Amino acid sequence: MIPVLTIDGPSGVGKGTVANIVAARLKWNLLDSGAIYRAFALAASKRNIQIDNIEKLVELASNLELNFAPDSANNTLAVYLDSQEVSSDLRTEETAELASKFAMIGAIRESLLIRQQDFRKLPGLVADGRDMGTVVFKDAPYKVFLTANVEERAKRRLKQLRQRGITGNILQTLEDVKKRDERDARRKHSPLMPSKDALIIDTSDLTVSEVVTKVMVLVKV
Ligand code: DC
Repeated sequence: MIPVLTIDGPSGVGKGTVANIVAARLKWNLLDSGAIYRAFALAASKRNIQIDNIEKLVELASNLELNFAPDSANNTLAVYLDSQEVSSDLRTEETAELASKFAMIGAIRESLLIRQQDFRKLPGLVADGRDMGTVVFKDAPYKVFLTANVEERAKRRLKQLRQRGITGNILQTLEDVKKRDERDARRKHSPLMPSKDALIIDTSDLTVSEVVTKVMVLVKV
C-alpha cells in the first residue's frame, strides 16, 4: 500500500505551501490537484469551449496533454500544457475562477480522476486540493483539513499574488476568495468539506512552520 497524505482546504489557506514543504521533507511525490483543474480551465478557454458543451469538455479532460516537472529554482513543480510552460498563467485569479466553475461539473471531475490517482507512486504521495481526502484518495491513511478565517486567507492570497508580480487589492481578493469558497463548498459533486477522519487544523494564528510541524507529527514515518 502506497501511503498518501491528503491536504484539503479552502482557497488561500496555504495548502500548496505546506504540501510542498512536507513532500520535500518526506521525499514523497506531490500532487497539486488545483493545478490540474486550472490547466483544464486554461485549455478549455484557449479552445473556446463553452461551459455547457459537456461532450467537448469531457473529451478535452480525457485527452489533456498535461505534464509536471520539478522546478528546482522555485522548489515546486512547473506545469506544461500542450508542451508549453503555463505555470504562471495558472496562478491568476481569472484562471482560478474559471477552474472553480468547471470543477462543478461531475463529468469533468470524473474524467480527471484517474489522472490524479496516477500520482500515487512509491515511496508516497502528498496530495493537495478540495476532495483529496473525501473522494480521490478516500483510503489515505493520513488526512489533514486546513482552515483559516477568510480575512487571513485573502491576505495570504494577495501576498502570494504580489510575490508573483500580479497586482490586486485586498477588497477584491476578499470577494474573489469568498465567491470561490462558496461555489466550491456548495457544489453537488465532491464539495469542499473535511473528511470525517481528517485532522482539522485552524491555521489563522499559526506560522507555516507550526502547521508543517503538526502535519509531520501526524505522518510520523
Ligand atoms: O487549489 P486551487 O486554488 O489551485 O484550485 C482551483 C480551483 O479548482 C478551486 O477553486 C476548485 C477546483 N478544485 C477542485 O474542485 N478540486 C480539487 N481537488 C482542486 C481544485
